[in-house]
Amino acid sequence: MSLKGKHIVLGITGSIAAYKSAMLTRLLVKQGAEVQIVITPAGKEFITPVTLSALSGKPVISEFFATGDGTWHSHVDLGLWADLMIIAPATASTLGKMVSGIADNMLITTYLSMKAPVFAAPAMDLDMFKHVTTQRNIQRLIDDGVHIIDPGTGELASHLEGKGRMEEPENIVAIIEDFFNKDTAAPQAGNLEKKKILITAGPTFERIDPVRFIGNFSSGKMGYALAEQCASRGADVKLITGPVNLIASHKNIETITVESAEEMYEASINIFPQMDAAILSAAVADYRPLHKEDKKIKRSDSDNLTIELTPNPDIAASLGKIKKSDQILVGFALETNNEEANAVKKLEKKNLDYIVLNSLQDVGAGFGKDTNKVTIIARNGEKISFGLKSKTEVAVDIINTVFFTNKNK
Ligand code: CTP
Repeated sequence: MSLKGKHIVLGITGSIAAYKSAMLTRLLVKQGAEVQIVITPAGKEFITPVTLSALSGKPVISEFFATGDGTWHSHVDLGLWADLMIIAPATASTLGKMVSGIADNMLITTYLSMKAPVFAAPAMDLDMFKHVTTQRNIQRLIDDGVHIIDPGTGELASHLEGKGRMEEPENIVAIIEDFFNKDTAAPQAGNLEKKKILITAGPTFERIDPVRFIGNFSSGKMGYALAEQCASRGADVKLITGPVNLIASHKNIETITVESAEEMYEASINIFPQMDAAILSAAVADYRPLHKEDKKIKRSDSDNLTIELTPNPDIAASLGKIKKSDQILVGFALETNNEEANAVKKLEKKNLDYIVLNSLQDVGAGFGKDTNKVTIIARNGEKISFGLKSKTEVAVDIINTVFFTNKNK
């Protein structure tokens, strides 16, 4: 029961997706959480407080006053009681009221009194969701520190990819669990204050002509999770990232955005000498088109088209060459056969201290997914295998192994 003892305020608003809140309540309670539901008057049109109080085991709060006897529901007390507030579904109207502080119902007053982190899972018609006002409100809430759960990717979003559909309750619970894990992982396991860490993340795009490129499906999630974890433990992080739909929010992270392998190489080579460590999680394209066409390549129906490719610089191997004895270099390996033997070869060839072997054998592990399964192999041959975990948890495992065990030197 990974949410055991957690106090969660679940806000429900007037959307057809309110039926999903019943399942969300059940799942949160099943995970051991205490759930206090606060529902808006419009929310009650879609789901009854009777159902919700039966599932949560607590009376549902909807009015400022409990009954006709003048007993007052204290939003201030709720704000102090909660470890987390999640508003799901969150309508366009509620998002707008949150932005502007229009406290005309119990849910918004609770939001304004909240001392705990706040999450919101938007739910509305696609046209409403796409409206510039809604998008601006979502962006403002993100700026105000609200975690928006993006229905498009099931991720905490900063990139507005969603389609206005409320995220599935299972995924919301996973995101909440992940959040608490992340929160508790950092203090337990050593800090990285004064450490300077370079992290590469995401894919690289290799231009063919002005409108086309060769790329890969790397989402960058692993690298961003590593950056957030290192930063939350006090490290100064330089995150060199290829094109991804993510934003690193921690103040200790400086993001350097690049497109191609050559740009990533240039940035990495310049920065690495000032670093204590580099973790290279980017999926760098091994080849790029030899000629980048200035004009869009035209279709020709009769001939095949051949694009000649030339090798890109190997960033990991280049950093391995200039690495000093007190620097730590960590690479990743994605292998489909002879996994461990190939990973060890890569570690030696690139002069790495650790290599993180990504398993492709498991459903849910790898590119574009939220989970990963890894084995970390150290230079001295010692290895440690982990189960299928969220990328945040994998980041914690990598950091603990690399910085807080001393297996490499
Ligand atoms: N890497 C890099 N620069 C490259 C290619 C890879 O820095 N041009 C890094 C990756 O970030 C990763 C490690 O090297 O940490 C291994 O990447 P991978 O693609 O598995 O290895 P390759 O050397 O490209 O080998 P292959 O694709 O042939 O398996």
